[in-house]
Amino acid sequence: MKYIIGNWKCNKGEEEVRGWFKSFSEKFSQAKINLSNLTLVVAPPFLYLPLAKFLIDELKLPLKLAAQDVSPFSDGAYTGAISAKQIAQYVNYAVVGHSERRNFFSETDEMVAQKVQQLAEAGIMSIVCVQDEHTPIPDDTNIVAYEPVYAIGTGKPESPEKASRVARVVRNSSSASVVIYGGSVKPENINNYLWMDGIDGVLPGGASLIVQGYWGMVTNASQHQTQT
Ligand code: PGA
Repeated sequence: MKYIIGNWKCNKGEEEVRGWFKSFSEKFSQAKINLSNLTLVVAPPFLYLPLAKFLIDELKLPLKLAAQDVSPFSDGAYTGAISAKQIAQYVNYAVVGHSERRNFFSETDEMVAQKVQQLAEAGIMSIVCVQDEHTPIPDDTNIVAYEPVYAIGTGKPESPEKASRVARVVRNSSSASVVIYGGSVKPENINNYLWMDGIDGVLPGGASLIVQGYWGMVTNASQHQTQT
């Protein structure tokens, strides 16, 4: 199984969210591609998770949802926070420890571990982002995303060989069963990563924002699979 997890970050308004799922639906209904070995996930902002869930169900789309973050605490007096319990009815996955969370919101390794714990208790699969092979990976982590900071949003992805090497180190040093790569992945280069030894998927940001980009990655991955 290969994962394509689109991280929308802090982008889109309500109409754009509707438009993205509607265009995805059009492409999906016209396409004849084999999606059986691909797990397709998108991570909209918290605000749009109920709408995204509604549209996925209504349009019968082969998509699952991820949250981009979660509170390190359970429900209670934590103003502004969103708990794992609150998102559990909408998402199967949640990203934690993204380098943007660490840099702009002072998220620490300890908080990442607390978040993974909260997600495990709520039955949500955690996707822990690590910046290199030295970043601690909490017990109970389900998916590790290797995301070198210099490759994020720069158009300069890590080399597939190095991504594969770090992915294998990370896999051996954690209990996670899935390891993915993120950093400037797009339709043109997705297949350089998806099929490398030790890599089970990708976490594209910018390229997933427009449907053409996300769908381009899905079709390229699917065609590659059919040809090999
Ligand atoms: P990018 O972002 O694909 O725009 O580089 C990846 C990420 O931050 O997850």
